[in-house]
Amino acid sequence: MQKTIKPLIKIKNSFASLTLVVLLAGCVTGQLGKNNSGEYKNGMVVSAHPEASQVGIDILKKGGNAVDAAVAVQFALAVVYPNAGNIGGGGFMVYRGANGEINALDFREKAAASASRDMYLDSAGNPIVDKSLYGYLASGVPGSVDGMVEAHKKYGKLSWAQVLQPAIDLAQNGFKITKRQAGELNSLHRKFMEFNPDGTAFVNLESTWQENDLLVQKELTNTLKLIQKKGRAGFYEGAVADSVVAEMQRGKGLITKEDLKNYHSAWRKPITGNYRGYKIITMPPTSSGGIALVQLLQSVEKFPLKKWGHNADSTVQVIVEAERRVYADRATHLGDPDFYAVPQQQLLSPDYNQNRMANFNWAAATPSSSVLAGEIKGTEHEETTHFSIVDRDGNAVSITTTLNGSYGSLVAVKGAGFLLNNEMDDFSVKPGAPNMYGLVGGEANAIAPNKRMLSSMTPSIVEKDGKLFMVVGTPGGSTIITSVFQTIINVIDFDMSMQEAVAAKKFHHQWLPDEVYVEKDAIDSLSTEKLKAKGYKIVPRGAIGRVDAILKTKWGNYQGGADPRGDDKAIGW
Ligand code: GLY
Repeated sequence: MQKTIKPLIKIKNSFASLTLVVLLAGCVTGQLGKNNSGEYKNGMVVSAHPEASQVGIDILKKGGNAVDAAVAVQFALAVVYPNAGNIGGGGFMVYRGANGEINALDFREKAAASASRDMYLDSAGNPIVDKSLYGYLASGVPGSVDGMVEAHKKYGKLSWAQVLQPAIDLAQNGFKITKRQAGELNSLHRKFMEFNPDGTAFVNLESTWQENDLLVQKELTNTLKLIQKKGRAGFYEGAVADSVVAEMQRGKGLITKEDLKNYHSAWRKPITGNYRGYKIITMPPTSSGGIALVQLLQSVEKFPLKKWGHNADSTVQVIVEAERRVYADRATHLGDPDFYAVPQQQLLSPDYNQNRMANFNWAAATPSSSVLAGEIKGTEHEETTHFSIVDRDGNAVSITTTLNGSYGSLVAVKGAGFLLNNEMDDFSVKPGAPNMYGLVGGEANAIAPNKRMLSSMTPSIVEKDGKLFMVVGTPGGSTIITSVFQTIINVIDFDMSMQEAVAAKKFHHQWLPDEVYVEKDAIDSLSTEKLKAKGYKIVPRGAIGRVDAILKTKWGNYQGGADPRGDDKAIGW
């Protein structure tokens, strides 16, 4: 049976709870949008920027379905959220139709055909700092435009021109930047000028950026118009492709016209798994996220998390031990499935994951050095973005998309006005050397021509009793997987509403380094002391994740969860 969600008001007394349930049910009026609990009947969009969420909801109101809205939101984010929204990057989509059909689209970037395994090493074989992170060599061949074309072709209802128009309007007329964005653009001024000496729309040459300044993007407007008119060819061929290649030639980058023309996204079979009677539908490789998410859920399923309580010391200990083992597997076994035989069946076996937990010891932390030695993998940055959408028919889309670092490679294509990704840094630059985030990996994720770099992005959808239950995902580099995992168990095990589950403080362990990263106040001081006494190294850190999610309640309404760690916004109708 689907659980009762208690969204906004916590009521301990059961009579009062019953009264609340009756009241909430009474507030729902058939076609109407919102009820008094902030739930909506006809659909919902949750994204990292209020303007993008508004674009999505407007498309739904015009009769578009969840995929129409998703395409419009993806392009809108490329305008209003340029640090991660993009047309110069890539991403993943997990889809669940109202009829139960599930699908996954991999529009992750690819290495250029002339990329090579040691391209970021010096003559002594050491990684050259920043070469895979900034500038022209850092970019993979972008996948987002092809991904949106494919998604729209397969599932879209409105015309391509209609779904592109809101992004064009935002780029042409400008939008008011948030306080957070003003700060980011000001702090990146010098770096933007280094890579774009002729200036870009992101640089304010007269003054510093202030909250509510209008950001107008003329070059991007023209690029979006070409994509609107010509579809895929408007980006991968013609004037935009010429601009990308000219940019590459200016900075000795690798992407050629053939690389662009040859880029194609791939429909893949979603990963599915079960957790306490719920079905998890999530992203297969080239993401590591889906497999790792299901492994984590299987690893903890036998333990009474609910009885122990949210972020209680026993709960944290079991989750950290599961994460340690799953991230060790990730480092060794995961890469682009078109290039490497990922042992998916074994990794997704409940017996395998439960056996992996058999040697964990309640009395003391398992040292990561004693857990499966993996080889080395590449960096993952935290500046990615996720959005979740459900339409009035119940079609659901979960998309996570990225440029990798904040504002990607910081190279804006001259004449075309969009930022290129620095996704090449997600490859294993040198097997054997931990990256700047301490993640390790190996052969599975070594650089090869036309190969996709491993990702942690985990767009996911959860079903209960064959029906839609949750749409969820987040940015956060290596913390993506653990944030999606914690958001799901916050609802399933700890009875939180969607907003509570998203906002709840999180923690993270990734095998190496052998440290537990903890948001402020995520774990109380007594539990922290108990964990420390067992040998867990607790390291405080800033925000973990920026989850945007939707929950379908037992009354058939949609609850949004927009992460308060950012400017994120849930809009329903
Ligand atoms: N660039 C972050 C990720 O793909 O996981």
